[in-house]
Amino acid sequence: MIDQDTKKPNGVKEKFIIKGNKPLRGEVIIRGSKNNASKLMIASLLTDEPCQINNIPLSNEIEITRELCERIGSEVQLLPEHICKIQTPEIKNSLVSELSRKNRIPILALGPLLHRTGFAEVPVVGGDYLGHRPINLHMEALNKMGVRVEYREHSYFAECSGVIGAEIEFPFPSVGATETVLLTATLGKGKTVLRNAAVEPEILNLIAMLVSMGAQINVDPENRVIEIEGVSKLHGVTVNVMPDRNEVVSFVCATLFTGGEVFIPGIKTNYLEAFLQKITEVGGIYMKEPNGIRFSGSRPFKPTTIETAPHPAFMTDWQQPFVVLLTQAKGESIIHETVYEDRFGFVKDLIRMGAHIEVVDECLGTPCRFEGKTYNHSARIYGATPLEGTEITMTDIRAGMAHLIAALGAEGESIVSGIEHIDRGYEKIDERLRLLGADIERV
Ligand code: UD1
Repeated sequence: MIDQDTKKPNGVKEKFIIKGNKPLRGEVIIRGSKNNASKLMIASLLTDEPCQINNIPLSNEIEITRELCERIGSEVQLLPEHICKIQTPEIKNSLVSELSRKNRIPILALGPLLHRTGFAEVPVVGGDYLGHRPINLHMEALNKMGVRVEYREHSYFAECSGVIGAEIEFPFPSVGATETVLLTATLGKGKTVLRNAAVEPEILNLIAMLVSMGAQINVDPENRVIEIEGVSKLHGVTVNVMPDRNEVVSFVCATLFTGGEVFIPGIKTNYLEAFLQKITEVGGIYMKEPNGIRFSGSRPFKPTTIETAPHPAFMTDWQQPFVVLLTQAKGESIIHETVYEDRFGFVKDLIRMGAHIEVVDECLGTPCRFEGKTYNHSARIYGATPLEGTEITMTDIRAGMAHLIAALGAEGESIVSGIEHIDRGYEKIDERLRLLGADIERV
């Protein structure tokens, strides 16, 4: 059997062959954020009217979400011009537990399905391994809103006779759990107040979509408070997916690591501030231009200290590409990862390539919720050490991007496998890197 996409026998996995140390130069178009787009697709389930989602990335993650929506009863068209037309006239199936646990989206469908049928069953969540990734906050919030959830062997079954408004306060701002509250409370009865909510720009964009659909939502991002007054019906809308901030960071780190220069049209500084500040601190340059931002820099960089945390702080997903960059900073850099307890697995490959990195279980910064728990969640990076090409296997999307950047800036050839992970999150990444001058081949 031949896979029609890859033209390879089924089961044969593709690899990248990369000849490193070629400066990336030129202009790169950033695709829509996968973390935003998939949530907008789920939000469309709240209405039976047609929705149009522009700037949709054509990555595998979106295909996985499409599979979920179609199973539920949506009519989905993903057009090559990055437009998704989606309408769910009726829910054909709210028991979708047989779908594989390829990502963390199905749990978000619980709210919309409950509104439309009163019960739902979704598979347990998957996604990249970054630590335990429990969903207790989603469940506690759903319970407070009157939903009864039953844990089954490979699924969650939920039912309710009407969502009711509730007072909810998270112990820390979870992106997914904030989205669960939004997608559930919007069509509920009465007022929901969510405190210590996540206020990532992707969440604000989801709120903007819900409000254009007719929802009544007030957000106070500074105080992390979201107030939702339930409404009885939502309408179809046309919305835009926001640019993928993780793609921006990945392309910029790759460009700086290889000593190049890149112009990224269509992006703004306001949702990248924590990243831009670190770019300046390490000696990189960014220039705002009328249509976008230009980035450049070359080795050696200056060391820095980074603490990842929910927005507006430095995002956890930017940590891995930045660690690669910091292997080329002269002196000691420090990273304190406070969002996920186990997100430094990828550094062993960087060490094999020549990096000098030490991962420790202490809080190298403000004490966080992982303090005293023996999680290796801080790192010291001693640079600058040149990296050598090698054979690497990607294990998840963001770590995969770190591997790719390392290979692009390393001396010699690297053979990178496990590239299905990167294909899940990044549309045609190899083609776009080649346009910037990278020597990368998919075999
Ligand atoms: C989303 C993003 C991911 C990003 C993360 C943080 C998507 C598809 N993924 O993931 O790329 O890294 O936000 O910006 O949008 N937690 C609990 N209980 C819960 C929920 C979360 O303990 O019920 C913990 C998690 O284990 C983690 C932390 O909270 O340690 C943050 O998770 P969360 O913000 O929910 O991330 P996701 O929505 O899964």
